[in-house]
Amino acid sequence: MSEKMATLKAGDVEIEFPIIEGTEGHPVIDVRALGSKGYFTFDPGFMATGSCESSITFIDGAKGILLHRGFSIEDLARDSDYIEVCHMLLHGEKPTEEEYQEFKHTITRHTMVHEQLNMFFHGFRNDAHPMAMLCGTVGALSSFYHSDLDVSDPEQRKRSAHRLIAKMPTLVAMCYKYNVGQPFVYPRNDLSYAANFLNMMFSVPAEDYKITPAVERAMDRIFILHADHEQNASTSTVRLAGSSGANPYACIAAGVASLWGPAHGGANEACLKMLEEIGSVDRIPEFIARAKDKNDPFRLMGFGHRVYKNHDPRATVMRESCHEVLAELNVDNPLLDVAMELERIALSDPYFAEKKLFPNVDFYSGIVLSAIGIPTNMFTCIFALARTVGWISHWHEMMSQPGQKIGRPRQLYTGHSKREYTPLKK
Ligand code: SDX
Repeated sequence: MSEKMATLKAGDVEIEFPIIEGTEGHPVIDVRALGSKGYFTFDPGFMATGSCESSITFIDGAKGILLHRGFSIEDLARDSDYIEVCHMLLHGEKPTEEEYQEFKHTITRHTMVHEQLNMFFHGFRNDAHPMAMLCGTVGALSSFYHSDLDVSDPEQRKRSAHRLIAKMPTLVAMCYKYNVGQPFVYPRNDLSYAANFLNMMFSVPAEDYKITPAVERAMDRIFILHADHEQNASTSTVRLAGSSGANPYACIAAGVASLWGPAHGGANEACLKMLEEIGSVDRIPEFIARAKDKNDPFRLMGFGHRVYKNHDPRATVMRESCHEVLAELNVDNPLLDVAMELERIALSDPYFAEKKLFPNVDFYSGIVLSAIGIPTNMFTCIFALARTVGWISHWHEMMSQPGQKIGRPRQLYTGHSKREYTPLKK
């Protein structure tokens, strides 16, 4: 029984609720008994609602802290790789060297997709947005694994997780190849996860793609920085879809759909389009003014965050990576100058400080992806590729928890009370 209690006084009703402490972060008030007392909580946008118990990722928005299984994102981005981070997120612990090699071998050998899946692409217009194709093909994956979809079986859940982590790069690269009219490139087991993805994206039958170590490292780091982020909109979508017992491929397709929005994962594509629209440093004040204008719906894409009100630790790492990649590739991207000047002006403007609007992970990722040669309309697919491990780890955690229930929020009803119906005169 919780020692601490919260008391709610509503009219002449006084209700006590247990306060539950986690290992880090805000304690929660357990309001599950509230419904039986005749009340619901009301929290559109879930600004102050804990939807679940999780041990995967911790975020401290005020201090700009992001931990995966207790390890800081700065340490992981500097010294780990995406495959190791995937093992931590999915299986809960840093792998031993032997576990790492076994996990890497497993993922590598699930990277191919069923040959019939190729035909799904030929139903799309060739100018279809890659995220439209990704939504469709990820959901379609479930049609190839009917005998392995028992979500109550931990082994089948883990196999689905391994398949999704392994096949997302293949599907994302296929979306790109279909858009540019080049043949699909098969995965290669002799390449790292990041190098394999780059090879499937950029190699062509006429010549092999030359993997640059700096680009491979930057790609892997982008995957790490986007791997998981607590109960963000797309992860919450995956959890809610999974709570009905839907198969993991359908749940991940739902996550892809939610991530697509410009307020969420679509921000990196929108941010680069905004930098291109600004075009030059001297036009920045015009856009800053628009962002501050209450009557203008324009927002600075890549700025602001629901949780981080100090700085997004991922943006700090991404900024370093951005400079490294551009220097290594000797890319002189004028958009970086615009981005740096926009960041400087925004951070010195009282409005942004007051609203606690700082560059988020999407602000610099678009510039790095652009420098690597990835087209803007592919940015959110890359985010979805990287976030798949987070989504499926949360799904697996939820399905492993005893007493898991279907998610079914209630509402504040403000429509008509019961009224008489008179049929139309027929
Ligand atoms: C991601 O949740 C996650 O963890 C997401 C993510 C992940 O890894 O999963 O971190 C990834 O989605 C990062 C966020 C990417 N989105 C963008 O960069 C789009 C631009 N940012 C915003 O749309 C906005 O900041 C949100 C959606 C990110 C956060 O919105 P909130 O928390 O709901 O804040 P809000 O919309 O209520 O804004 C608070 C105030 C408002 O002004 P007032 O009404 O109080 O006067 O700040 C203003 C907003 O107008 N504001 C901005 C702004 N973001 C908020 N003003 C200008 N430019 C912006 N970008």
